[in-house]
Amino acid sequence: MGKAPIINPFQKESGYRPKKVRKTNDSSKKSEYHYPKFCEAMRLIAKTLQGLEEVLAEELEGIGAGNIQIQSRSCSFEGDKRVLYRANLELRTALRILVPIWSSEVHLEKHIYEDVQKIDWSKYLDIDGTFAVDATVHSDRFSHSHYIALLTKDAIVDQFRERYNTRPDIDTAQPDLRIHVYISNDIFELSLDSSGESLHKRGYSKGILVAPINDVLAAGLIKLSGWKMDCDFMDPMCGSGTILIEAAMMAYNIPSLWNRTYFGFLRWKNFDENLWTEIREEAYRKMKTSFAFSIRGYDIAYEAVHTAETNCKLAGLKGYVKIERCALERQAELTQKTLIITNPPYDERIGIEDTDRFYALLGDTMKKKFKGVEAWIITANMAAAKHIGLRTSKKLNLNNGGLECKFLKFELYEGSRKTKSTDSYNKDS
Ligand SMILES: C[S@@+](CC[C@H](N)C(=O)[O-])C[C@H]1O[C@@H](n2cnc3c(N)ncnc32)[C@H](O)[C@@H]1O
Repeated sequence: MGKAPIINPFQKESGYRPKKVRKTNDSSKKSEYHYPKFCEAMRLIAKTLQGLEEVLAEELEGIGAGNIQIQSRSCSFEGDKRVLYRANLELRTALRILVPIWSSEVHLEKHIYEDVQKIDWSKYLDIDGTFAVDATVHSDRFSHSHYIALLTKDAIVDQFRERYNTRPDIDTAQPDLRIHVYISNDIFELSLDSSGESLHKRGYSKGILVAPINDVLAAGLIKLSGWKMDCDFMDPMCGSGTILIEAAMMAYNIPSLWNRTYFGFLRWKNFDENLWTEIREEAYRKMKTSFAFSIRGYDIAYEAVHTAETNCKLAGLKGYVKIERCALERQAELTQKTLIITNPPYDERIGIEDTDRFYALLGDTMKKKFKGVEAWIITANMAAAKHIGLRTSKKLNLNNGGLECKFLKFELYEGSRKTKSTDSYNKDS
């Protein structure tokens, strides 16, 4: 059933030089990239969260990716090893970087087993190495993703046993090789997961509070806001500080994965240590030592302030972010141009009894204390958000840990207050 592998990322020089970037409606954004002659080019896939595809494509352009195609919750692109390593280190809005190695049409489960066995797995994995298989299945014919992952694992294990009378072990946490299976109807694709585990794990042992925002989403919010790093940044309900940490990493030009020591590709047989060192050194040279504006966070809870401060320290950002205990209602009036991005409580889980009243208070505070400010709020509680009672100038659909959310933009200039404070914000955008 299977066709030939679509590309072998471990092969030596392909001589192929991808050109042209990014499928976009705006032709002025198109540009060309040329890779040096000696490099090998691969088709790659960066996975992301719903609503972050466009900002991810922009980030990909910035690291020299070629032929970027925006898809649902992912971007496909072309790049060499340098782009692959940079994608893992630098992309703030990517969850994983996959390297497709096989694509075929399958109609029966046995076709999957047979196709997996057509690949020489010893090229990718040593017998004393470890591996894991993940599967995503969207198909009427094959419904159980867990079973498909097991079938793939068995085919690999059987190949090693037949050839070497021994087999590599399974490690589901941080394997030497993570293989990703994707089935869409009859199309069966195998990819190597160069990240090894989700890139939202930024590499510092983060203290977690109730309802933290995903780090990739936090970075995505800042990217979506279009912050040009030309003003103060503030999160008045910062919780464990995720949004502030992502903002500081951007402001100081620190790669989002700078603190992480585990990536799948570091354990691949074709890992190029010199190149990786060169990329890290280059990133280090580009980091900034100062930022002209302040990055500040507040929270009503002592525990949140302590956790956010600790997390900033663990992320290597001690002194870059200021965090204080302060209730929203006690905020001082803002006098400097400031961008606010915040993730307020959605429900009663984090100590607010009356959500509608809380969101009305949020609206009042923004109106009275945050004049002349641009504020963005992410919430899954659309009913309560109506009580903010301010006009939205943008409303984006996102997903926070499985919850459908709106990311609402408020431009707090004179006259932005609605005539009726309980009007639905929906009417304005
Ligand atoms: C959803 S959490 C924020 C999570 C945060 N983005 C993170 O990644 O950890 C909401 C935060 O709002 C804080 N909060 C609730 N009421 C507040 C108030 N009146 N003033 C300031 N902070 C408040 C809570 O203590 C909680 O930490």
